[in-house]
Amino acid sequence: MTYDNVKVMLTKEEVAKAVSDLGKRITEDFKGKDLILIGVLKGSFIFMADLVRAIDLPIVMDFVSAKSYFGTTSSGVVDVKFDTHLEFSGKTIMLVEDILDTGKTLSVLKQMLLTRGAADVRIVTFLDKPSRRKIDIKPDYSCYTIEDRFVVGYGLDYDEKYRNLDYVGEVIL
Ligand code: IMP
Ligand code: MG
Repeated sequence: MTYDNVKVMLTKEEVAKAVSDLGKRITEDFKGKDLILIGVLKGSFIFMADLVRAIDLPIVMDFVSAKSYFGTTSSGVVDVKFDTHLEFSGKTIMLVEDILDTGKTLSVLKQMLLTRGAADVRIVTFLDKPSRRKIDIKPDYSCYTIEDRFVVGYGLDYDEKYRNLDYVGEVIL
């Protein structure tokens, strides 16, 4: 699928290679350890689906819902809806996001999971946009670091559209 207003930034092949490499790294780093992956909906769903299949470990997974974005501007308000019923007390959780932008969503989620008893919360994000950070938070794992551009595809949306692109593109507004 191509759109006149979406400029390809990462091809389907580049995305697949980066996610597969990341899965191998996580497999190495967590060999013999318990690992719970929690995806942040909706943006992470495609990345999560590919990443878990690239990890060769007996992981457990779930999703939570959180939103801090409307259109192209951050509202500054994070609406968190926990829907995980996994028992994760004393365990390591990896929060899986589509993109780390201001950092508000993940910092709130990380804090909540720690408060609820997680031993450790790591951050894995498909894309990292460090120039936009408002909170001091860094990903433990990321596939690509990008400039301050609004991107869509591979789960990422613009007003709920373009999530189903199998590549990542920049929206020309
Ligand atoms: P943060 O809390 O500001 O880090 O926001 C993270 C959320 O903002 C992501 O999960 C996305 O839903 C959204 N977001 C940030 N940048 C982009 C972008 O370039 N394209 C699409 N969504 C974005
Ligand atoms: Mg999102």
